[in-house]
Amino acid sequence: MTQNFPDNTLYEMDNLDVLRGMNSQTVDLIATDPPFNTKRNRSATAGHYVDNWKWGDTGILPDQWKWNEVHPKWLEEIKDNHTELYHAIDAAKHCQGEDTAAFLCFLSVRLIEMHRVLKETGSIYLHCDPTASHYIKMCMDAIFGKKNFRNEIVWHYQTGGVSKRWFGRKHDVIHFYTKTEKYFIDLTRVKDSRSAEVLRRIESGNENATRAKDLERLPFDVWNIQALNAMSNERTGSPDQKPLALYERIIKASSNEGDVVLDPFCGCATTIIAADKHKRRWIGIDRRKDARYHIITRLMGIDRKERERLEKVVKDGSDPGWLDRQTQKYEIHYQTEPPTRTDEAAQTSAALAHVYTTRSESLHTHAEMHQILVNQFGLKCWGCNFVPPDKRYLHLDHIIPKSDGGTNDINNRALLCQPCNSKKSNTMSLNALRRQNKKEGYTQSNPEIDLQNALAWTRNYLIQTIRETPYQFKLDNS
Ligand SMILES: C[S@@+](CC[C@H](N)C(=O)[O-])C[C@H]1O[C@@H](n2cnc3c(N)ncnc32)[C@H](O)[C@@H]1O
Ligand SMILES: [Zn+2]
Repeated sequence: MTQNFPDNTLYEMDNLDVLRGMNSQTVDLIATDPPFNTKRNRSATAGHYVDNWKWGDTGILPDQWKWNEVHPKWLEEIKDNHTELYHAIDAAKHCQGEDTAAFLCFLSVRLIEMHRVLKETGSIYLHCDPTASHYIKMCMDAIFGKKNFRNEIVWHYQTGGVSKRWFGRKHDVIHFYTKTEKYFIDLTRVKDSRSAEVLRRIESGNENATRAKDLERLPFDVWNIQALNAMSNERTGSPDQKPLALYERIIKASSNEGDVVLDPFCGCATTIIAADKHKRRWIGIDRRKDARYHIITRLMGIDRKERERLEKVVKDGSDPGWLDRQTQKYEIHYQTEPPTRTDEAAQTSAALAHVYTTRSESLHTHAEMHQILVNQFGLKCWGCNFVPPDKRYLHLDHIIPKSDGGTNDINNRALLCQPCNSKKSNTMSLNALRRQNKKEGYTQSNPEIDLQNALAWTRNYLIQTIRETPYQFKLDNS
């Protein structure tokens, strides 16, 4: 499929919009670390994002999801098109509660898109902590298919505390799935001395003495990689930063030079830096305003002191052009608008289309739709091209009659003059009306509205409205 986004791009916005705008099968590897439902740090809410985040904020907005903020469209999409996923989320809701279920909805609509943008040979590594990892796995089984599950990788680290009440918690989980069984992997690139040791022990104990030579040092699913401590030079100051070595390992094993690596929750850019270091092309998405600063200062390879100095420069505004200049210098594409699909963009709309019919009310009022169509397509009857003296002469018709299941939404509306409206009533299609008018000599010589373009425009307009509507609905979620 054709890539419809530039290489090495940072999108600074909600990743759902970006993912939905990316062409299918354009990404080789996704390595990502979404916010957990920890109620701990500041990253996101389930519905639309209220952007209160300011540079330098620490821990003001918690990572917290509420069921009544789940976008009803997400839920309907999941319920209608992904039954297994719906049941997985429902199970989480019963076992762990509504907050976890809301978080899973937030994540799942994004995972559906991540699955779509992966190439047939592609892989995804999703980082999570044990709070929700099992529920996330159920969702990923539903989206990627259980046969495409490869590993539950345990990242074992030594930092953090201990407890007298439970065993010290010393690991995160990384779920590794592939798009198909034709995936790319080369484990010889990430040899592991510890696994060599274990193999030697097995062999000397004669348990499996005929171990093939080429299996030597192949890595296991428990990864001992040091977590960042307060003194690491790598440290950016961001509380959720992960060690570079962890993401380098993923990238080396599951991609090749020149491949496209995507991190839709890129934070302070660990995946991006690892990808760049190994000559992969990268796409990062984060709604944080400091992601670009982190990418640049980490690409510069400067030490921590210098990074802190530059952070001041950016924050206090003493050199307002600095970020833009560096963005250019490092040939980073910085975007604040999502890409537009050039493949089967209609598919995205199709995924949303079915939800229209389930609503009784329309997203726009009658008067709004009338005005929008007049503004966009001019004063003209779509049936006979008649140009009336003012807009009162045009009626808001249902293209597919309501009696045939047509909706009230703007993508099912056309402007018709009075005679056309009565003639069409609910017995003929708009095209049939046009043909009939031509035959009977009622068609005016003005240029005709291009129906296909008009319908594409109104449909996009509707989708845009759905996306932009604040979603604070109270849900009856039975
Ligand atoms: C756990 S952090 C990622 C840290 C990253 N792995 C690193 O080491 O730098 C999660 C990131 O997801 C971002 N995020 C949360 N919701 C998002 C959304 N809907 N769209 C884009 N980014 C989002 C947050 O701003 C946060 O930076
Ligand atoms: Zn007419």
